[in-house]
Formats: sequence, structure tokens, C-alpha cells
Amino acid sequence: METLPAWDPSLSVGNAELDEQHKLLLALNQRAADLLNDKAGNHIRREFRHLLNEIIDLAEVHFAAEERILALNGCPTLAEHKAEHYQFIELLAELIYQSMLKDLKSKKIAKLLSDYIDHHFRETDMGCREYMRDRAA
Ligand SMILES: [Fe+2]
Ligand SMILES: [Fe+2]
Repeated sequence: METLPAWDPSLSVGNAELDEQHKLLLALNQRAADLLNDKAGNHIRREFRHLLNEIIDLAEVHFAAEERILALNGCPTLAEHKAEHYQFIELLAELIYQSMLKDLKSKKIAKLLSDYIDHHFRETDMGCREYMRDRAA
């Protein structure tokens, strides 16, 4: 079974709202990976698609919140950071499209999601940690 890295305090960006959203995104991605491990069928594809839509909704809320805070704090790599966020939404949209057309390549998809999240949370988000603090806090 493909297991995504669980959230742990070493992933904290020092902002409670963003940390909470990261936890939820990891949990939803783990659910997607678990679902793909079940034997495929039409209902799995439908359920997977619903889950991907949930991930997109949450990711959009999270990315908007994160980008707003990064902008407020003058993060110098905001443009590159935004581009990575956009790539994730594009990846999810592509997976939704694929799930309507053909059988999903479970392992490949679980790995794509896991690799993105792992890279983005551990490197891109952590690299901007000092610009993630909420000014109100
Ligand atoms: Fe980010
Ligand atoms: Fe993030």
C-alpha cells in the first residue's frame, strides 16, 4: 500500500491555520491512495473523482490563504510558489479527466500525489516558513 507521509510537527510552518489545512490535505490524499488500492471498478472511479474534487476545493482555499500570507510578509519567492500551487490544481484536474475516460493507473497516481505533496510541503512550504507567520498572531 502506498503510504503518504503523515503530518508531524517537523512539518509545522508556524501558522495554526495553514498547519491544519496541511493535515487535512495529507489525510485526504491518503484516502485517495487507499481507495486506489482497492480493486478498481466504476464506483471506485466515481468515488475517487469525488475525493479529488474535495482535494481541489480544500487546496484552493489553502493556497489562497497561504499566498495571501506570503504576500503580506513579502515572500521573495511568491511567484514560483504560486506556480507550484497551480501545478497541483492542474495535476488534480488531469486526474479527474483521466478517471472519466480510462482505468486509473493506481500506483502511478498515488505516487504522483505523494511526490508532489512531499516535495511541496517539505521543501517549498518549509523554505518559506519565515514568511508564513500570521501578522495578527
Ligand atoms: Fe505552498
Ligand atoms: Fe501549503
